[in-house]
Amino acid sequence: MEIAFPGKRVLVTGAARGIGRAIVHAFAAERAEVHAADIESGLVRETAATAGSPVEAHGLDVTDSAAVDALVARIGPVDIAVHAAGGVRGRMAGPLEEVTDEDWRAIQAVNVDGAFHVARAVTPGMKAKGQGRIVLISSGAGLRVSRTGIHSYGTAKTAQIGLARQLASELGPFGITVNAVAPGLMPQTSPDYVRQWEARSPEERAAIVEGIAMRRLGLPEDIAHAVLFLASDRAGWITGQALPVTGAP
Ligand SMILES: NC(=O)c1ccc[n+]([C@@H]2O[C@H](COP(=O)([O-])OP(=O)(O)OC[C@H]3O[C@@H](n4cnc5c(N)ncnc54)[C@H](O)[C@@H]3O)[C@@H](O)[C@H]2O)c1
Repeated sequence: MEIAFPGKRVLVTGAARGIGRAIVHAFAAERAEVHAADIESGLVRETAATAGSPVEAHGLDVTDSAAVDALVARIGPVDIAVHAAGGVRGRMAGPLEEVTDEDWRAIQAVNVDGAFHVARAVTPGMKAKGQGRIVLISSGAGLRVSRTGIHSYGTAKTAQIGLARQLASELGPFGITVNAVAPGLMPQTSPDYVRQWEARSPEERAAIVEGIAMRRLGLPEDIAHAVLFLASDRAGWITGQALPVTGAP
């Protein structure tokens, strides 16, 4: 089964590293016109430079809806939007009574508000074409208790799945699918996840790998492959779903 995207305009947020970077590289390899956006403008330029084919890099704060709208207006109608911007924004687990409003909001803003801003901005162009694909990078933390122990993160990742379901219902009649991908823990994607991983004892780490049926941790490319499938024509009758990509049932 060939999955290629010649001539398709793809916008990937959170493209500076890890999962977002792998998604950019995978779409670029399949001949899409890729726009890589991230608040880390230096790192996102590196994503573009290492893609192996032309990718346009954009500095973007997804919590700023006007900036998201302006970027979409500048690049033109988007065929495929992938919201990978998110993560835990430098937070670690702590008791609920010590979580500040700012801790809570920072994670909601990028994961949930950002997903909403991106979906809203690309929808008119997709409706005009009568087709489109929106993929939100949620997490296993959206399907069960978060391993991170971070309240706002588990809540935000669950909200993304709810948003995908709700938008799928509204946008289906316009030929637009909206899905979420729910990756398992991947320690090597970003400093935040390295910290989460290193906070665990060797025994805990071994137990996590033992608990994965495929007996290995996930790689960003594992997530990119799932995203490309959901973004392809072959997935035209899959919408509103949350696909766990975890190496385990
Ligand atoms: N690594 C894991 O174990 C794991 C597991 C499940 C889900 N996820 C999710 O996958 C996605 C990618 O995570 P990752 O692990 O590759 O690294 P990450 O969590 O560091 O990635 C988040 C990316 O979003 C960018 N970002 C943060 N705030 C932004 C903003 N306001 N505007 C634009 N960009 C912003 C960051 O610069 C970074 O490049 C995230 O949504 C994360 O929650 C990661």
